[in-house]
Amino acid sequence: MSSFVIQGGRRLEGQIRVSGAKNSILPIMAASLLTRGECVIRSTPDLDDVATMVRILTNLGAKIRFGSEGDGGRRYIRITADVLTGYEISAELMGDMRSSIVVMGPLLSRLGKFRVSKPGGCSIGSRPINFHIRGLEMLGARIRDEHGYIDGEAGSLVGRDIHLDFPSVTATENIMMAAVYAEGPTVIRNAAREPEVVDLQNFLNGMGARVAGAGLDTVRITGTKTLHGVEHTVIPDRIETGTYIAAAAITGGDVVLTDTTPEHADAVIAKFREAGVAIETGRDFIRVRPQTALRSTDFKTMPYPGFPTDMQPQAMAMMCFARGTSLITENIFDKRFAHADELLRMGAAIEVGSRLAVVRGSGRLSGARVRATDLRAGAALVLAGLGAQGTTTVEGIGHIERGYENMEGKLRGVGADIERVEG
Ligand code: EPU
Repeated sequence: MSSFVIQGGRRLEGQIRVSGAKNSILPIMAASLLTRGECVIRSTPDLDDVATMVRILTNLGAKIRFGSEGDGGRRYIRITADVLTGYEISAELMGDMRSSIVVMGPLLSRLGKFRVSKPGGCSIGSRPINFHIRGLEMLGARIRDEHGYIDGEAGSLVGRDIHLDFPSVTATENIMMAAVYAEGPTVIRNAAREPEVVDLQNFLNGMGARVAGAGLDTVRITGTKTLHGVEHTVIPDRIETGTYIAAAAITGGDVVLTDTTPEHADAVIAKFREAGVAIETGRDFIRVRPQTALRSTDFKTMPYPGFPTDMQPQAMAMMCFARGTSLITENIFDKRFAHADELLRMGAAIEVGSRLAVVRGSGRLSGARVRATDLRAGAALVLAGLGAQGTTTVEGIGHIERGYENMEGKLRGVGADIERVEG
């Protein structure tokens, strides 16, 4: 039960290097199950979710080695899945990380079967997996949902035209990975357009797959007979990028984010500029300059290229430091406002409905003991603590460490007073 203890009010100044994207590396690691060849994945972030995916792949029989390279010691991971000895993801591993469901598609493709413990709802919403199941069934899988497990089985998979009811990120990814060996073409319509889906497409094509259209709303996969090993560098984490832009903005800081892809954060940059944040972009960096005051601004989360739900909690924390009313609409998940209750403890004035939160910003928060209920809620509370007067203790930082590499070290590197306390 570790916590972050933050003394607020320090202006952040300096450089932060952005890590590889969590939501890219997880499906890409799962996709390495599709080949007997060695996959080398560069820019692997050191995250608890990556460690969970390592346990999953190792349990299935894959061999994994880590290494580091370059001046800054960027990590890479080598995965060889030449012999798979299992096809099941336990309830324990699924409990640790619900995105473990991204192994369903690769296992079905490679082994013709999978068994995963059925994920329940989580602290951000009910999160069903019906689009994944229906997509895999359409490709020819027989799926049973019994006794808390989802069992899938298929002789051979056959390409189909699949229309998603909603552009689900991991459903798009699962179907892409299930379709790479299918007979004939698969078309995914209303596909998710997130950069992480494009990154997966690039990884799969590097292995010899034929996938086109990722980044647009129709993805086409033409089945192939074999896939080989590949070397790939994952894209920078656009949510980590956005989180540190907000950290700089809240503290009136002057921070350069390096090794990032500004265009993946376009929606965040546009809205933050509207809120008065002074942002400059280059090819692979973003500079946040000190601004005078934050302006209240409305945010509506949407699938990419809209404003990301994974930045909604951080935007809410930021709006507590603006004067005036901001409306925050959550359109992706049905329960993603738990951070609001914690911000109230810090003196925020927020009214929460089912999909709408009204933030009446007073321009200040005061430090308090708060609890992270999920990854991005935790990030939002750290941001609130950085800008608050006095001491903030953020409990439950295990959630944060699932998805932010060395947040404490990165923030200390730019002058934050943040300490990790055990127990
Ligand atoms: N949905 C269904 N049925 C499905 C799948 C999704 O109804 O079968 C609904 C969900 O309940 C939700 C909406 O569709 O209301 C969109 O969910 P989506 O499937 O796109 O989310 P996801 O693939 O489970 C990924 C990210 C999340 C991120 C969302 C939305 C990964 C590993 N996870 O989840 O990341 O919030 O897309 O962008 O890529 C995070 O990093 O903090 C995180 C939660």
